[in-house]
Amino acid sequence: MSNDKPITRPRRLRKNAAIRALVQETKISADDFVYPIFVIPGKDKIEPIESMPDCFRLTVDNAVKLAEKIAGLGIRAVEIFGLPEYKDEFGSAAWDRESPVQRALAAIKKAVPELLLIGDVCLCQYTNHGHCGKLTDDGYVDNDKTLPLLARVAVSQAAAGADIVAPSDMMDGRVAAIRAALDKNGFCNTAIMSYAVKYASAFYGPFRDAADSAPSFGDRKSYQSDPANAREALKEAALDINEGADIIMVKPALSYLDIVQKVHEQTNCPIATYNVSGEYAMVKAAAKNGWIDERRIVLEELTAMKRAGADIIITYHAIDAARWLMSA
Ligand code: PBG
Repeated sequence: MSNDKPITRPRRLRKNAAIRALVQETKISADDFVYPIFVIPGKDKIEPIESMPDCFRLTVDNAVKLAEKIAGLGIRAVEIFGLPEYKDEFGSAAWDRESPVQRALAAIKKAVPELLLIGDVCLCQYTNHGHCGKLTDDGYVDNDKTLPLLARVAVSQAAAGADIVAPSDMMDGRVAAIRAALDKNGFCNTAIMSYAVKYASAFYGPFRDAADSAPSFGDRKSYQSDPANAREALKEAALDINEGADIIMVKPALSYLDIVQKVHEQTNCPIATYNVSGEYAMVKAAAKNGWIDERRIVLEELTAMKRAGADIIITYHAIDAARWLMSA
């Protein structure tokens, strides 16, 4: 029977680079990337982060220089994380206008006005217990008492120069609390990128070293989502959109591309995904050993995130990837 029916040949469209380019469905570019920057107190310091090769903790002066370089590569946005000068029970350095994040936002906004600035809104880098909110006496993170603190952080970052605030704490109701506080303080044009779907993941390990934000007891499972749950992701996304989130994030990225796809299909918000520190560290370690081709692996991973439905990719690979795409 096969003799009279010709073979169907998808390979016709793979024959050479020109035709492959013509039919390529997913294209990534520097426009898609956000580069995370860690800022520290002091002046003229650059500290390597051991578990995140080629990433650094920088004082604000050096963060400005890096931001200039990033903008020069065509990357549109950076997300700022900070290590504070002091920690306390409430994480009050998170809304201190003199903290590294606020100073970095102001300095980068002035030096590189075209770069979009995203502030990470959370308390875990600022509390002396390392949890993402205020604790009750028995060590549970108190949702409702944490909300006004997060709103304060968001307003302080917006005042310093953030175009977008990105709450990563996973408290219920925080998007509404932040939106109301921003609007009340005259920041109605500051957008909210909500870490709506943030899993209690082991892939955050290197970040917690970098940001000194590991919980001093217990874990984050009472507020971050269970990696086994997918339907819950849709519920979280719907709640945050309803509360006024402009962009919905799924985090981590690689082990959660099914979630990226579902949230993309079932909402009408732009979707961001966070290619987190553990994902980055694994690639860097394997590349250093010569076990993988770093450039090809990274571009393949970033393409997969976009193919799954991510409009925005927050990644420590952004600088390398932007360079590779320029020279491709
Ligand atoms: C803060 C926060 C974390 C990350 C981003 N914001 C860590 C955490 O929840 O412990 C992780 C980023 C990464 O691993 O690259 N809550």
